[in-house]
Amino acid sequence: MSDSPYFDPRHYGIDPHGPWPEDVPKGQDDSHWRYENDPKGARRAELRVAFCWSLTLLASIGLAWVYVAGGQTQVEGALWAMAFFGLGVGFILWARDLLPGTEVTASRGHHDVCAEEDRRAVAESLTRGIEPMARRPFLFKMLGAVGGVFGVAAVFPLASLGPRVHLDLDHTKWGVGTRAVTEDGNPVLPTDVAVNGILTVFPEGYITDALSPTLLINVGDLPFEIPPSREGWTINGLVAFSKICTHAGCPASLYNVQSHQLVCPCHQSTFDVLSDCKPVFGPAPRPLPQLPITTDIDGYVVSQSDYHEPVGPGFWDR
Ligand code: FES
Repeated sequence: MSDSPYFDPRHYGIDPHGPWPEDVPKGQDDSHWRYENDPKGARRAELRVAFCWSLTLLASIGLAWVYVAGGQTQVEGALWAMAFFGLGVGFILWARDLLPGTEVTASRGHHDVCAEEDRRAVAESLTRGIEPMARRPFLFKMLGAVGGVFGVAAVFPLASLGPRVHLDLDHTKWGVGTRAVTEDGNPVLPTDVAVNGILTVFPEGYITDALSPTLLINVGDLPFEIPPSREGWTINGLVAFSKICTHAGCPASLYNVQSHQLVCPCHQSTFDVLSDCKPVFGPAPRPLPQLPITTDIDGYVVSQSDYHEPVGPGFWDR
């Protein structure tokens, strides 16, 4: 029974009646390559590969330079094309001219990995494959240099992803002594906001900054609940809160003078101004952040610092 080819593990997966595929076609040696007997031709082939990779090297340096100089989309595209073209053609030429080109087929179940003879054959085959590559140290060094420079150039486009979003959302343009101005750019005196009045202000020079709009609200003599740590953050009855709703970022700008509540028009979140702008209705998850304010030597409203917590929706902070 064991003499039958159907029980020979070497036949698993192949037609027992068909020709037996060999690793190397009979009569051929898998170590032949194009310029094996032509050292000058091999040298020329090596230089052709080096030329292609030089293109990649130059294109990579050019890419880094263009990015640092401010970027130019068309030039960058052309340089990327040149870098990949040189790299690819170089590999093709190396494989075509300087490496053995014999096609080798290994059949499934053909090898008995435990057999000493097969193991030796595999080791020899590997050595024969590596040897033609190892005898080209110049190309290996060149490939290392090209890979390094090309890799560094490929990192530069990361700068195009912009600033880290999380850090950007943590800060506004308010700072120590930043004047509050109206949308017309005029500085604001505390008396510009009448009792029960409300005024949208911006940090001077940053009227279009999306995170900085702030509401000045004059609550007059009404009792204003404030944590002890925020003593001194107001100018008499004048308080400042972020205008960016903590639900989804709409401007919370509808002020109900009767109830002293701010209402966000998007989803009706309602904030109690006299109670530290805590949400008392709607989906907003946290109070509007308070901006510490004071007056400068000219009597204008200025911020004492940036907000002490991120403004805007809670999910920006996660
Ligand atoms: S954005 Fe203000 S309630 Fe939704």
